[in-house]
Amino acid sequence: MRVIVVVGARPNFIKVGPLMPALAAAGIHAHIAHTGQHYDSAMSDVFFADLDIPEPEWFLGVGSGTHAVQTGTAMMKLEELFSAERPDAVLVVGDVNSTLAAALAAVKVHVPVVHLEAGLRSRDMSMPEEVNRLVTDQLSALLLTPVTEADANLLAEGVDPARIVFVGNIMAESVLRNLPRIEGRDVCTRFGMAENDYLLVTVHRPENTDHPERLAEIAAALESAPLPVLFPVHPRTRPRLAAYGVGEASSRVRLTEPVGYLDMLALQRDAAAVLTDSGGVQEEACMVRTPCVTVRRNTERGITIDVGANELVSAERELIGVALERALAKHRDWSPPERWDELVASRVADALTDGIPPLAGYEGA
Ligand code: UD1
Ligand code: UDP
Repeated sequence: MRVIVVVGARPNFIKVGPLMPALAAAGIHAHIAHTGQHYDSAMSDVFFADLDIPEPEWFLGVGSGTHAVQTGTAMMKLEELFSAERPDAVLVVGDVNSTLAAALAAVKVHVPVVHLEAGLRSRDMSMPEEVNRLVTDQLSALLLTPVTEADANLLAEGVDPARIVFVGNIMAESVLRNLPRIEGRDVCTRFGMAENDYLLVTVHRPENTDHPERLAEIAAALESAPLPVLFPVHPRTRPRLAAYGVGEASSRVRLTEPVGYLDMLALQRDAAAVLTDSGGVQEEACMVRTPCVTVRRNTERGITIDVGANELVSAERELIGVALERALAKHRDWSPPERWDELVASRVADALTDGIPPLAGYEGA
């Protein structure tokens, strides 16, 4: 079986880290196509190095743009690639524009789509990711879910149960496989922080970065946070933060460039609490047992709240302050959700080997 695995943005790279060796071990020939949605070395190359991910076979150089420009450019390049290569399947991960572009391009040239991390829903159509998830799932021939709630979401949307396999969370497998590699790795002191005595922050969602009133509230909350703050800044956020004085000489917030995966894992492990709007960070904080506060209007990672690892808070300075105090007082005694383990990638390989049910009308098309 020949599979093209499409990646484009930071969280995609991390998700294919554990996947590629498991596919190879199952005799599946998997080749990576990198759309180039993320291209800075700190947003792309560092993850291939940290996670020993095979070099992409194809690099499409799509780059940044509006949603339609980015998705459309990726579709044009991927259509050409899939038509020339005719793989047995295209595997896409997560919910970024590259995921949607690959699903649309593949299904139109009659190549079955396999979606890893299917079925998550925030029920917020103002999020580009929610649109990407909904469409990708409708186009997919095989839907591999991270939590049982995702199965229920897909069934409620009319997806044939024969297409759904609950494989578990691949981000969790990546954490479990890489934690032993960072034992003793001291990253926080490099940034002037002391273990268990700082807050780790990431913010990059448009609902925060593109709404000055929300970003101002988050900035104010960070400036009055109960502990020093370390904030690796996404390139989308950096220019927008400047207006709020965050990270200036007098500030207790330390801004840095985005960090690599292994450093980020160590920083999450050693933080007293995490404040984020990232999907992946909510899951990782749950795995490393660091309390998480998610500053968003909703989350598709509700399971992390259900197990007691995470709390959702709106972008208001007082509410963020209260949520942080609660997080710092929390007992870290939750258990990770079902199938957030080291067998996720091998379940993906098994599902592929068991066969991909064809879409209606594919036979004889
Ligand atoms: C994308 C995903 C989001 C994901 C995030 C992970 C979509 C719709 N959004 O958001 O779901 O959580 O990636 O990080 O796919 N930029 C750089 N260098 C880079 C990449 C981006 O400077 O290597 C800057 C550019 O100014 C660009 C902006 O960041 O316009 C946004 O990048 P883009 O890929 O469009 O979306 P993200 O906000 O990164
Ligand atoms: N991450 C990283 N360095 C950083 C910030 C995040 O390695 O400076 C990792 C993080 O640990 C997680 C992934 O990037 O594995 C999450 O990606 P991101 O927050 O960009 O996207 P999302 O998960 O929200 O789609």
